[in-house]
Amino acid sequence: MDKKLYVKTYGCQMNVYDSMRMADLLAPLGYRAVDAPGGADLVILNTCHIREKAAEKVYSEIGRLRLLKEESARGGRRMLIAVAGCVAQAQGEEILDRAPCVDIIFGPQTYHRLADMVARVARDEGTRLLDTEFPAEDKFDFLPEEAAPQGVSAFLTIQEGCDRFCTFCVVPYTRGGERSRPAAAVVAEAERLAAAGVREITLLGQNVNAYHGHGLDGGEWRLAALVRRLALVEGLERIRYTTSHPRDMDDDLVAAHGDVEKLMPFLHLPVQSGSDRMLAAMNRRHRADDYRRLVERLRRARPDLALSSDFIVGFPGESGKDFAATLALVNDIGFAQAFSFKYSPRPGTPAADAREQVPEPVKDERLAGLQQLLRAQQDAFNQRAVGSVMPVLFQEAGRHPGQIRGRSPYLQPVHAVAPAGLVGRTAPVRIIGVTANSLRGEIAGTAGAGAAHRMVEETACA
Ligand code: 5AD
Ligand code: SF4
Repeated sequence: MDKKLYVKTYGCQMNVYDSMRMADLLAPLGYRAVDAPGGADLVILNTCHIREKAAEKVYSEIGRLRLLKEESARGGRRMLIAVAGCVAQAQGEEILDRAPCVDIIFGPQTYHRLADMVARVARDEGTRLLDTEFPAEDKFDFLPEEAAPQGVSAFLTIQEGCDRFCTFCVVPYTRGGERSRPAAAVVAEAERLAAAGVREITLLGQNVNAYHGHGLDGGEWRLAALVRRLALVEGLERIRYTTSHPRDMDDDLVAAHGDVEKLMPFLHLPVQSGSDRMLAAMNRRHRADDYRRLVERLRRARPDLALSSDFIVGFPGESGKDFAATLALVNDIGFAQAFSFKYSPRPGTPAADAREQVPEPVKDERLAGLQQLLRAQQDAFNQRAVGSVMPVLFQEAGRHPGQIRGRSPYLQPVHAVAPAGLVGRTAPVRIIGVTANSLRGEIAGTAGAGAAHRMVEETACA
């Protein structure tokens, strides 16, 4: 008999990938995904701990689920509640104490045991399980093949964990040390995805360009070697990867941006700050000028490369001068888009104990200033696309009848009035307008469909 599974995913793309793999694991037990928690047999909260108030959000969600669980019980049904992901990893014991309605707690490295945990808890009412160890075995060796993908774009985890220990970041504690999947497993997964209709893959890792997996030739492969091999997979048209650390951008990866046509000209490369003093306090192990030089090298390899980044404002000890250095870096680089956050102390990380915390109103003011600048750069980047023709990979129906939606090589969402039959295909689109966060276009004939497009003049933002 079918059982209902509801998974709520917080945070990063890797959590989205993990949630899909959890559903794959539970399918043999008869669980089918539903899109609301009411009446579900199993609810999984796949949590994120990277920024503010993560735990509070999880406890309030658990509070809501408790009511649904009681309602199910009144109807004679049992609803199991599981908490997964990085909050579970960091605060598993506390959740067990504070939330008696939670049946199962497990971390990012033990979800391959999920089917067994669910079966045990379902069998013995009253049993509660906590599994947040960092096991010796690799979960990927125990995951079933992924279910047929739904769309044309898919995520593929190739690397997990991090050894860099930036002083603000919980990842090395919640996801553990850095591990890379063997190239053979990654290529096999990519081939299955492509055979099922996927045209674009985004390779995922907390520090993905630190990839150093076992290669197909028996040696160790870095990310560039893997990307070059994946570019040979039939049917795949686009390859992206995220998230990277500037220090792990080796020469071959820079070169790959110039000579692997399927590698899309968009790179998310977090810099966090433009101040050398802050970068040192963050343990980033590079200076602002190293980042500038790296971007120059990347743009020499691929002149139209569009950049995205992450920024933290109000890191402990950040002065007005430090913040001005961040604005200067943003002005020098010119970003196509970016994410920016106020520093929030994560318990257990070194920066959380720093004495010189920046007052909240100062953080607010700096965040607003930075976001205004980044927004202007993003708008200018989008505006410059108007009049150009670029290949768009169409992914789904748009919001309005007759419209379909896809992505430009630079990851911009593009809407066009076009036949639904183009979904799943790449077509040349003339960009005719810009909306708040996306481009509007019209199909521009068939010439050049699928060809890699270069907007060579797009080397810097205004
Ligand atoms: N406070 C604010 N932002 C943070 N990030 C990570 N940890 C923190 C924190 N403690 C941001 C970084 C990172 C992104 C994923 O989240 O910018 O690159
Ligand atoms: Fe966190 Fe990224 Fe730094 Fe690793 S490199 S500690 S994941 S911010």
